[in-house]
Amino acid sequence: MHRRKIPSTGEMLPVVGCGTWRTFDVGPTQADRAPLGDVLKVLFEAGGSVIDTSPMYGAAEGVVGDLLASAGTRDKAFIATKVWTSGRDSGVAQMQRSLQLLRTSRVDLMQIHNLLDWRAHLPTLRAWKAEGRIRLLGITHYTESAHAELEAVMRAEPWDFVQLNYALDDRAVERRLLPLAAERGIAVIVNQPFGGGGLLRKLLPRPLPAWSADIGCTSWAQLLLKFLLAHPAVTCVIPGTGKPEHMRDNVQAGLGAYPDAAMLKRMTAEIAT
Ligand SMILES: NC(=O)c1ccc[n+]([C@@H]2O[C@H](COP(=O)([O-])OP(=O)(O)OC[C@H]3O[C@@H](n4cnc5c(N)ncnc54)[C@H](OP(=O)(O)O)[C@@H]3O)[C@@H](O)[C@H]2O)c1
Repeated sequence: MHRRKIPSTGEMLPVVGCGTWRTFDVGPTQADRAPLGDVLKVLFEAGGSVIDTSPMYGAAEGVVGDLLASAGTRDKAFIATKVWTSGRDSGVAQMQRSLQLLRTSRVDLMQIHNLLDWRAHLPTLRAWKAEGRIRLLGITHYTESAHAELEAVMRAEPWDFVQLNYALDDRAVERRLLPLAAERGIAVIVNQPFGGGGLLRKLLPRPLPAWSADIGCTSWAQLLLKFLLAHPAVTCVIPGTGKPEHMRDNVQAGLGAYPDAAMLKRMTAEIAT
């Protein structure tokens, strides 16, 4: 799988990861969890590593932690989780709980979820980074109405990562946030690459355009992900899935060629119809 540089460290990150919102919020049974174990197996076998989760996602952090522990694959994962609460002490308690649930002494990326009380959490994140409990720091949001605030926070502090909403029918970040991330050396994780699933559901009944083959795409999911990965400021996309066959499909977007300017135009024209 292709890898891209995290500007603040020079570390190379695989371009396709896995989101866990809703899809990893499952019960304790083997029937609930076996497909998710296979999702992670497919991700790792394809050379991927990024798993994005949050204390907001119900049981997801614990499910990820259990699956990595039982498969012995913690060292293959780049774990990105979040702090999503108000107040310094509450943030500390939540992050301690996340480490327990994820069954690890160190997360790769700690993000302030939806910028919630970010000023209160930042000193803790910095202290934990210095102690080695967190490797990298970031912020997230998922909606255009928060982009002005996201921009201000990106300018205010030196973040390693920003996570934001970007999809073929949701391109507001192209105006200011992606150029700003490139300018300030902030790695970009794209959430909701299928518009939360809605964009993909609309496209699935349509036949795949013949020109998809020119960039090695055999599905709409791959086309949508390659559109995003064609942007030079994007580091990684994290489509959410609980299905191994969908993960197998999505990782293909991490291989082969990306669309050039002419192909990007064709893609946007196709969506406009
Ligand atoms: N504020 C934040 O920090 C924030 C906000 C939103 C999301 N996120 C993160 O970003 C991740 C991605 O966003 P998202 O999950 O909301 O939306 P998404 O990735 O745009 O879409 C997920 C949906 O697409 C389906 N899907 C995935 N791969 C598919 C394929 N190859 N073919 C057909 N269907 C496919 C999934 O269903 P199946 O399970 O059936 O595959 C799921 O319903 C989240 O999981 C979460 O980790 C963060």
